Amino acid sequence: MAHICYVFDAYGTLFDVHSAVSRNAKEVGPESARLSEIWRNKQLEYTWTRSGMHQYKDFWQLTQEALDFAFAAVPSANIAKRQSLLDAYMTLDCYSEVKSVLAKLKDGGARTGILSNGSPDMLNSAVRSAGLEEVLDESFSIHPLMVFKTSPETYRMVTDHWKIERSAVSFQSSNRWDIAGAAAFGFDCAWINRTGQPDEYTDLAPTRVFKDLNGLLEN
Ligand code: LAC
Repeated sequence: MAHICYVFDAYGTLFDVHSAVSRNAKEVGPESARLSEIWRNKQLEYTWTRSGMHQYKDFWQLTQEALDFAFAAVPSANIAKRQSLLDAYMTLDCYSEVKSVLAKLKDGGARTGILSNGSPDMLNSAVRSAGLEEVLDESFSIHPLMVFKTSPETYRMVTDHWKIERSAVSFQSSNRWDIAGAAAFGFDCAWINRTGQPDEYTDLAPTRVFKDLNGLLEN
């Protein structure tokens, strides 16, 4: 635990984005997993295109637009569940090891924070409902910058706020594109490869790869 600060991506890393649909799977119908996959992929695509165009809309708006696309692409899915899915997205499950790992990092003297594309309301709600307030020192939303990760200025929020060197930050994400952005900025990165994805962005590599956050407590 040599790092001073441990900073975590939110969605997919701390919070299970597919838990919104899986909680409602029966009512959504047999193609619920496909709906959830398209929802997440479109949500991310919209962040990248909107940053590229300098046409910002906040992450909550994009989350709703992505869900509308997903329902249109999967006509068998029960659109009457639209509001339930959005409500569930505000109170996603966190992965089982999250709270204990964050608590141990803090006990070891490290600072902990989130750096996310999520809007402040979304992050506050997710952190509160998962009971993570006491194990997180800070929650950085990109919202004031009106640009999404992987723009370097988003990662700079952390070093500016805490007045620390980039190399003092261990950045964790399950999203390989986010690791690429954070590595390009100069963070020391741990890719939390929960689903066994193949590597990519090989010139912008993490220094460590773990299957879940428990790996951070090793050695
Ligand atoms: C986050 C999403 C994009 O920034 O994973 O939390």
